[in-house]
Amino acid sequence: MALLLLPFTFSLIFIAYYLYQKLRFNLPPGPRPWPIVGNLYDIKPVRFRCFAEWAETYGPIISVWFGSTLNVVVSNTELAKEALKEKDQQLADRHRSRSSAKFSRDGQDLIWADYGPHYVKVRKVCTLELFSPKRLEALRPIREDEVTAMVESIFKDCTNPDNEGKSLLVKKYLGAAAFNNITRLAFGKRFVNSEGLMDEQGQEFKAIVANGLKLGASLAMAEHIPWLRWLFPLEEEAFAKHGARRDKLTRSIMEEHTLARQKGGGAKQHFVDALLTLQQQYDLSEDTIIGLLWDMITAGMDTTAISVEWAMAELIKNPRVQQKAQEELDRVIGYERVLIEPDFSNLPYLQSVAKEALRLHPPTPLMLPHRSNSHVKVGGYDIPKGSNVHVNVWAVARDPAVWKNPLEFRPERYLEEDVNMKGHDFRLLPFGAGGRVCPGAQLGINLVTSMLGHLLHHFTWAPPNGLSPEEIDMSENPGLVTYMRTPLEAIPTPRLPAVLYKRVAVDM
Ligand code: HEM
Repeated sequence: MALLLLPFTFSLIFIAYYLYQKLRFNLPPGPRPWPIVGNLYDIKPVRFRCFAEWAETYGPIISVWFGSTLNVVVSNTELAKEALKEKDQQLADRHRSRSSAKFSRDGQDLIWADYGPHYVKVRKVCTLELFSPKRLEALRPIREDEVTAMVESIFKDCTNPDNEGKSLLVKKYLGAAAFNNITRLAFGKRFVNSEGLMDEQGQEFKAIVANGLKLGASLAMAEHIPWLRWLFPLEEEAFAKHGARRDKLTRSIMEEHTLARQKGGGAKQHFVDALLTLQQQYDLSEDTIIGLLWDMITAGMDTTAISVEWAMAELIKNPRVQQKAQEELDRVIGYERVLIEPDFSNLPYLQSVAKEALRLHPPTPLMLPHRSNSHVKVGGYDIPKGSNVHVNVWAVARDPAVWKNPLEFRPERYLEEDVNMKGHDFRLLPFGAGGRVCPGAQLGINLVTSMLGHLLHHFTWAPPNGLSPEEIDMSENPGLVTYMRTPLEAIPTPRLPAVLYKRVAVDM
């Protein structure tokens, strides 16, 4: 009997709480919430599209209730600026779900840390040390190695007589390049040998990533409805086991690096070496070092591969743009060498192609949610302490009020008017803005531009046989990061002398 009354009691509590919030605060408008679940069942799976639709009805700032948690979504340039610049510090906390709280040991890393002394310290380590221009440049050979390895692997597959006329799954090559890049950058490890075989540590690494995703997903259902949580208990044991497994692998890699440093003298440039050498200076706990290393893996791997996949889809749909980018590459690089990063400054069109892809298809269209650490006003509405705030950067970047023909893929727009995409121009925010702006933005831009440049210089890309460019499915998969719903398939045709398709391997 008591169990049967539970939903009723919680409905009453919810209604009372909701009415209290409504009367006490001037909350942004939005769809009417239901007791207990709020708007959870009205939200369509591709959330940023759903929120953009709601913004058309209710305005550029809306309230969406995830159970009893208020989520505020802003969808235009002015409000994005107000939230990320003027109210930056009040909105700089993070909402940690039960699983992200477990994974990050209650925010001892960077991504899930609330704003405060720990956050400021760790952010400083990232800005001054991990992502300094000097370290970015020192790690360039790794990026160029991986991008050329990707080209070699595509060349092998598309020139294999067995594959004649067949399309390739583009994501497979982009994903491998992004994976090798980030594991080498962070851990100084290429888990995959030149034959494409993954070693034992790499397999363990992949299994840990997959298990983390599984554990996270297992809780999602009850995350926002506290009274349902007893039905989905946090699997303490499974999380503890996962954490221990992750720590064991990371510790063994850290030890290898410490030994190598002791033997060889000088420190290497990988993030793991940087963090271990700086541990005392910045007073970093082992949990923080491990957390930071895994932050880089989670934040830096899929985002870059996804961005390039969307860009390639747009280039196949828009052969004019593809050809124009190739003409620029031929003029600047020619047919006797391959692209390197210092060429970027002479390739404004290529850079614009990358930017245009990140405008139309930001891989994290709602960024990562921020949380208010005090009562704050945005757009004249109240945002009570503890609310989540999302900036719909996807909607902002398609707003006809600030973009001419926003749905057109037209890189030329940036040659006509320079638009900064690292948080200074609030029309274009693929990396966010303000204090929590993506610290890996420049690295991400370099990787995306380099991958795109190589793919376009080395190959001409066409849709699979039987498919016209217009038929490429440009819809998104639901999720925090936005994969293409139908992974892109395409037919590459080599366009440079065969000697230029060799991997430029470096040992670092
Ligand atoms: C195209 C590639 C990338 C895109 C579009 C992207 C986008 C973003 C966005 C939107 C955020 C959230 C900002 C906010 O909360 O306000 C973020 C945070 C973050 N990104 Fe990136 N990112 C990319 C690549 C990378 C790379 C390569 C790394 C590192 C190797 C990285 C590391 C991080 C970290 C650590 C955070 C958390 C920052 C914080 O909470 O203070 N990202 N990124």
